[in-house]
Amino acid sequence: MTQAPLSRIPRHIVSASDYQQQARHHLDDNAWHYLVGGAGDEITAAHNSQVFASYRLKTRVLADVRQGHTQLSLFDKSYPHPIFLAPIAYQHLFHQQGEQATALAAKVMDAPFVVSTLSSTLLEEIGSEGEQALWFQLYFQAQRQQTLALVQRAEQAGYQVLVVTVDAPLAGIRYREQRMGFQLPQEVRAVNVLGATTVTPPTLEASQRLVFKHFMMNAPTWQDLAWLLSVSRLPVVIKGILSPENAEKAVQLGVAGIVVSNHGGRVLDGVLASLEALPAIVQVVNGRVPVLLDGGISRGSDVFKALALGASAVFVGRPYIYALASAGALGVAHLLRTLREELDITMALCGCATLSQINASCVINVGEKCPH
Ligand code: FNR
Repeated sequence: MTQAPLSRIPRHIVSASDYQQQARHHLDDNAWHYLVGGAGDEITAAHNSQVFASYRLKTRVLADVRQGHTQLSLFDKSYPHPIFLAPIAYQHLFHQQGEQATALAAKVMDAPFVVSTLSSTLLEEIGSEGEQALWFQLYFQAQRQQTLALVQRAEQAGYQVLVVTVDAPLAGIRYREQRMGFQLPQEVRAVNVLGATTVTPPTLEASQRLVFKHFMMNAPTWQDLAWLLSVSRLPVVIKGILSPENAEKAVQLGVAGIVVSNHGGRVLDGVLASLEALPAIVQVVNGRVPVLLDGGISRGSDVFKALALGASAVFVGRPYIYALASAGALGVAHLLRTLREELDITMALCGCATLSQINASCVINVGEKCPH
């Protein structure tokens, strides 16, 4: 792994896909395959980005967009653009400054950064003096007391939004990681939850299955979500929703927002791509809470397409980690700037001066995919 400090970005890196290629030179096999991989045969992981190509942009010429901007307001705060950083575990695997580098870039580029429960830096040590939009991603712990302790630490440390991830109650089957024999290096640890209780698997009878009698015995349920909503002082956004029925239930329980996501295709292969799931969820939510999306976004035009189908904002995941691995904080900031500029240009050429003008009439589904 080579991590020469960069004072500027090499000229040939102009897009998220360039960062992906560049990152391969900076990561060992272990980290690389953990990062790029998905569940099973990685059909969903690939599909997440491929479906963006089945939507084409509709240009609108001669539009007056001179007052254009990309501001939005979410959970009582305003943001200059809708491109946020998804929670990604163990960022010291990818760069020696880990989450601190990401937080710095997020601050410079005014992008909320969602810090993972499984961050490799203590949640209290991420970010710096001054205003910064940090959100905390929560995984339910085996005991409510431990979950509550994490929520309270996030509140005390000044996190602004709680993003509770519900789509990974157990680890996905990841062929790639199994083939690789993926292992976290000793020095990279989930430091926020080091003392957390782990439940020992029970002795099972022949008819009993470990998944149901062990992993899912300790998995959260809707009751746990209701409990979380009753104890959290922060707005709670639920991440990992793919069906309108689940979205409806979450809204009825009182979540502040929904993230349509399949965890980057890392948990169950064969589910809907996030973009495919989005329209029906937006329809059922019907403006009651904001709907965000992640999965497969690697261009400003992808952001535009997600917004056209009803997302209020998007998270990027792997692309910013490719930039982090390639060039640390500078890389992440550069990637965000690039995506932002691409979004501006797409909006201008499609005749949209504000995010609220981006709607379903701005894209057309041709039902087929481009070769890339
Ligand atoms: C993730 N993701 C994730 N999600 C979460 O809620 N908590 C976490 O700790 C992690 N960790 C994590 C690690 C790695 C290596 C990846 C690639 C992803 C999922 C992440 O937040 C997001 O949903 C996807 O990455 C979005 O898809 P793209 O942008 O990577 O295509």
